[in-house]
Amino acid sequence: MAVGFLHHLPPTTYDPTPLNMNQATPEQLEIFLDIATEAAMVAGAILQNYWGALEAFEEKGRPGDLVTVADKDAEAAILKVLRRHFPNHSILAEESGQMGDRQGEYLWAIDPLDGTTNYAHQYPIASTSIGLLIDGTPQVGVIYNPFRNELFRAARGLGATCNRRPIRVSKTPSLSKSLLVTGFAYDRRETSDNNYAEFCYLTHLTQGVRRSGSASLDLSDVACGRLDGYWERGLSPWDITAGVVLVEEAGGKVTAYDGSPLDMRSGRILATNGQLHDELSTELLRVPPLSSWK
Ligand code: IPD
Ligand code: CA
Ligand code: CA
Repeated sequence: MAVGFLHHLPPTTYDPTPLNMNQATPEQLEIFLDIATEAAMVAGAILQNYWGALEAFEEKGRPGDLVTVADKDAEAAILKVLRRHFPNHSILAEESGQMGDRQGEYLWAIDPLDGTTNYAHQYPIASTSIGLLIDGTPQVGVIYNPFRNELFRAARGLGATCNRRPIRVSKTPSLSKSLLVTGFAYDRRETSDNNYAEFCYLTHLTQGVRRSGSASLDLSDVACGRLDGYWERGLSPWDITAGVVLVEEAGGKVTAYDGSPLDMRSGRILATNGQLHDELSTELLRVPPLSSWK
């Protein structure tokens, strides 16, 4: 695996003196970014090692909501790195849950394997997503796709990169010229609020709507301009924290469906290149019910 561009950092315990969103210095954010990168690369190596070698998958509750030994081992490796450097920080990790104070000043939101269904089927679209919320606001994000060897990094005020090169959102001006992406949560069979009508309606209005199966890669693809917009419901903070920083630092916009400030706990997100944000928000709020379609 190509890890040559990873900095080999000495284990440092970063002991923050009062640090909040307004006080985090670029140097402090760089440290968080580098440690998150170290953790993501270790996780990526684990995902590659288990590729094609899994013998069993568990369902976590809902049909199709899978977890594998790769998810668990990758998460354990990430926790080890973060705890070594930041023993006082809180962590919200998909497989281990909440550790430390949920309202803590520093909260790492971790998805060790975003795209588990793809991974279990050996469809190589999956990533590790590691984000840091400081005082509840996403500030640092690292998303690593080991199958394309793409490392996305961003920190508040420091810009966004893919494999260390700056990235920007697209310039696509309108929905009619756009390529969008979305996804469907595991509760989709249990609720009529399942995003099916939105998917069909936006497919009518755009050049296409994709479903990748990895929310973090959807966000990093908006950040680097491959896709023009993304919306989804039923998400967790570990799916989106890193990607929010990436899209915003790449010049895009991230809000609730109605354009109001993003609520990290709502599960809903609208992320675009900024230019078609209002138009997509307007259309999302007036999706006709599928039953009314001729
Ligand atoms: C899922 C993926 C998918 C999204 C689901 C998520 P997982 O995460 O991000 O794209 O549509 O809502 O739960 O289960 O592969 O970590
Ligand atoms: Ca996920
Ligand atoms: Ca996951």
